[in-house]
Amino acid sequence: MAVFNAPDFDNHEAVVFCNDAETGLNAIIAVHDTTLGPSLGGCRFWPYENDGDALTDALRLSRGMTYKAALADTGRGGGKSVIIGDPRRIGTPALFRAMGRFVERMGGAYTIAEDVGTSPADMAHVHQETKHVAGLEGGSGDPSPATALGVFVGIQAALKHQRGDDDLKGVTVAAQGLGHVGWDLCNRLHQAGARLIVSDMRDEITSEATRQFGATAVGIDTIHAVRADVFAPCALGGSLNDRTIPALKASIVAGSANNQLAESRHGDILAARGVLYAPDYVINAGGIINIAHEGVAYDQAAAFAHVARIGDTLGQLFKRADTERLTTSQMADQMAREVLARAAGRSLAA
Ligand SMILES: NC(=O)c1ccc[n+]([C@@H]2O[C@H](COP(=O)([O-])OP(=O)(O)OC[C@H]3O[C@@H](n4cnc5c(N)ncnc54)[C@H](O)[C@@H]3O)[C@@H](O)[C@H]2O)c1
Repeated sequence: MAVFNAPDFDNHEAVVFCNDAETGLNAIIAVHDTTLGPSLGGCRFWPYENDGDALTDALRLSRGMTYKAALADTGRGGGKSVIIGDPRRIGTPALFRAMGRFVERMGGAYTIAEDVGTSPADMAHVHQETKHVAGLEGGSGDPSPATALGVFVGIQAALKHQRGDDDLKGVTVAAQGLGHVGWDLCNRLHQAGARLIVSDMRDEITSEATRQFGATAVGIDTIHAVRADVFAPCALGGSLNDRTIPALKASIVAGSANNQLAESRHGDILAARGVLYAPDYVINAGGIINIAHEGVAYDQAAAFAHVARIGDTLGQLFKRADTERLTTSQMADQMAREVLARAAGRSLAA
């Protein structure tokens, strides 16, 4: 298994392989870039088929965190950790404590948080061994309301860019997924006067949205294709693909899901069709901004004011993408690289 020559290796500062035979812990901690500050990123617990897949995930996700943190102005760098295995089978308190000891050895270069397969309760075990843990119970709390706020202001920024007006009254939003983020987002949109079309695998939640928000519920196979102004993917990744894009009627895509583009070329296809796409890692940064505000004393008002700046960032990004004839995804990456280069005091060409 190649590391320095792995396709996703991008001059990562450190890649640490962690093993604790007693608890069965096999993990990888990847610190991509600490130019902007110590790295912060979640810990994914997943039954990877092989070590190579785990390494790819750690390398790719930690790099993504660098870019996300750079545009979110959190003063943090990008890191991520992965634990290999089935969390239900091997996710014991002892294993999380062993993970905590490895995080502690990083000396603060990496702060761990929950992610897919881990919970705040697991992080409490990690916390027994290290203080470099974010998102604990009693800290900044569930990040989803902050993420939903970021998506809400992101939708407003997209409307403003496309129509010169960010008023949501009478705007139709098709929301895919009514989970922690999707529900909160719909609540905000409803309060602002938007019309909602919703879908979720769970019928009880779509019925509730019909009652509370006057939403129209549709099946999960058709939500992307309904007549709407905005499509908001708030479920799983990959919802923008060869099957869904041709059926898309919305002229704005702005939602919380990670990795919305099945492949990067789908960003080009959206742009060619005149669809304004709010890059996922920019619009869904509210949660990480909120967590980055955990310090001596967490101040929700300050954290949410910071989250609301996502709208300004997206407004600038949309304008520059037009001027520089780049897709919005390309523009986001370019702007993140500029932030990093400025902080490192080097020119981008160097
Ligand atoms: N929670 C956060 O703060 C946060 C931050 C950044 C990114 N995200 C991303 O946003 C997305 C939603 O996060 P969440 O915390 O609300 O998750 P969640 O698990 O609470 O909600 C997801 C919802 O989507 C529904 N769903 C699953 N497949 C679907 C489909 N095919 N069609 C319609 N609905 C479907 C589920 O039933 C569930 O209600 C995820 O991609 C997540 O990675 C979340």
